[in-house]
Amino acid sequence: WLIIGGMLLAAYLIGAVPTAVWVGKSYYGIDVRQHGSGNAGATNTFRVLGKKPGAIVMAVDIFKGWAATSLAGLLVYFEAIPEEQLIMYKLLFGTIAVIGHIFPVYVGFKGGKGVATLMGMVLAVYLQVALVCLGIFIVVLLLTKYVSLSSMLAAISFPLLLLLPVFRQDEPLLMVFGILIAVMVVLTHRKNITRLLQGVESKISFGKKS
Ligand code: G3P
Repeated sequence: WLIIGGMLLAAYLIGAVPTAVWVGKSYYGIDVRQHGSGNAGATNTFRVLGKKPGAIVMAVDIFKGWAATSLAGLLVYFEAIPEEQLIMYKLLFGTIAVIGHIFPVYVGFKGGKGVATLMGMVLAVYLQVALVCLGIFIVVLLLTKYVSLSSMLAAISFPLLLLLPVFRQDEPLLMVFGILIAVMVVLTHRKNITRLLQGVESKISFGKKS
């Protein structure tokens, strides 16, 4: 239990690394939470600081989710849990990392919306479905230019895709966590939903800033 507790804490601390805030403050002297949408994520870093820092934040935030989720593999390695429980701990660690990203201890618990970190988690849990979700994200983004809408539809797609025979797994927890994370992403996008409904959500532009 000590090992499991320690790794849960590690998963939170990895997820909580506030990449957008630290990159913005360290290299640009800017807290991205005071600009643009006010969100400490890759999209707002891209919007406020440009493509390069945006890409770095996205890559690190995805990696955080993947790394925290993959920690569960160590539990099997150290024989702290049986192999059959691996998926459960992956889901648990990944979710804790996403919560860490949303409520980061390092910067006053005001973080991002968890989308990139969640992508990393899903990549580590179920690669094939993660890639389809990524495809849905890209298609919706190219069609609408709304990152928020793309994020929400990709997250909602995850549990729905699990219903398809080709992706169905004999693992009820996957569906439980799939629904949980979809709800979580919709909740973190409450302000975006209001802006989308009012027609004032900002669209992403692929052409400007470097
Ligand atoms: O990843 C967060 C994205 O879905 C929305 O970000 O800054 O447009 O609120 P933002």
